[in-house]
Amino acid sequence: MTEKDFIPVAYTNDKATGVVSYKSPSNIALVKYWGKKDHQIPANPSISFTLDHCATTTEVAYTKLEQAASDFSFDLFFEGKSKEDFKPKIKTFLNRIEGYLPFLKSYHFIIRTSNSFPHSSGIASSASGMSALALCLMELERELNPGMTAEYFNKKASFLARLGSGSACRSIEGDIIQWGSHEETQGSSDLYGIKYPYKVHEVFKDFQDTILLVDKGQKQVSSSVGHNLMHEHPFASQRFAQAHENLFKLQSVFEEGNLSEFIKIVESEALTLHAMMMTSMPYFILMKPNTLEIINKIWAFREASNTHICFTLDAGANVHVLYPANEKDLVIQFIKDELVAYCENGQYICDKIGYGARKL
Ligand code: PMV
Repeated sequence: MTEKDFIPVAYTNDKATGVVSYKSPSNIALVKYWGKKDHQIPANPSISFTLDHCATTTEVAYTKLEQAASDFSFDLFFEGKSKEDFKPKIKTFLNRIEGYLPFLKSYHFIIRTSNSFPHSSGIASSASGMSALALCLMELERELNPGMTAEYFNKKASFLARLGSGSACRSIEGDIIQWGSHEETQGSSDLYGIKYPYKVHEVFKDFQDTILLVDKGQKQVSSSVGHNLMHEHPFASQRFAQAHENLFKLQSVFEEGNLSEFIKIVESEALTLHAMMMTSMPYFILMKPNTLEIINKIWAFREASNTHICFTLDAGANVHVLYPANEKDLVIQFIKDELVAYCENGQYICDKIGYGARKL
């Protein structure tokens, strides 16, 4: 499919008012997206586990205007309060998607949104937030065009979410989503995420992710600044090639349930993401001393316990601790005994692999 396939030809229905609501999850990348081209096209393909508990709930109430306005008309409430400072980001998003949803200026929208995870937890809400909003707007488009297939709905929701925040395109469905053109993955696309199309071993079906909140502050580097740092980066081409290779290697890892190889790929990806930030110009260290303490403790515990615990990182100091469900009791005890001390105010979130967004 190309961009053109997401431009509607004509709507068969009319809809004056309505309310739609979606709960959309966050996701955690195993092979990281870091670096992009124009129009939110990723510089390399990525893959993620969709999460379950960490999610944004968004409700959109829409009312058709007497005539189309010259600009977007919307009110925005975050956790019940009017949120003027979030509006520019939403406006940029609406601008980017208007060509694909030509009705946007014909309605007034009241957008109410809230997150399941604590505000300022250092957890990025852009993936869950942008995917939830994209889904609500797609639901309105489906009202206008009821013949739309579920497959097209999901693809276009992912396509639109990508234009809000790249990683958001991996938050529509579950449980493993790949985004970005990859020669060895059939159906992969730079335009939207696809459900991972090959065999996945049972061991990955109920994977756990405990998110250790090491630093709950504002992100030191926004992801758009971060992606741009890859433009003049001395190691960019090697890094992009490595992501393609790691995705290929993951195919047999997923099929065979090879946890020791999984750990190598996932931890190397996390450290490479941070290495890219440390070796860009300007350079950044986004890990905190406690991030390193946690990583070292995880390595020591893995060695001593023969479990398959590993870590991954976002573009920040928090640590995602990944492990199979059958090791949960042991790992949670270890987290409580040895890792919680390194979390800000002892905070962590128990999450696991999830199955995608839900209409409420
Ligand atoms: O979707 P963005 O532009 O916020 O970028 C997300 C980048 C990482 O979270 C660091 C990696 C990823 O693939 O999710």
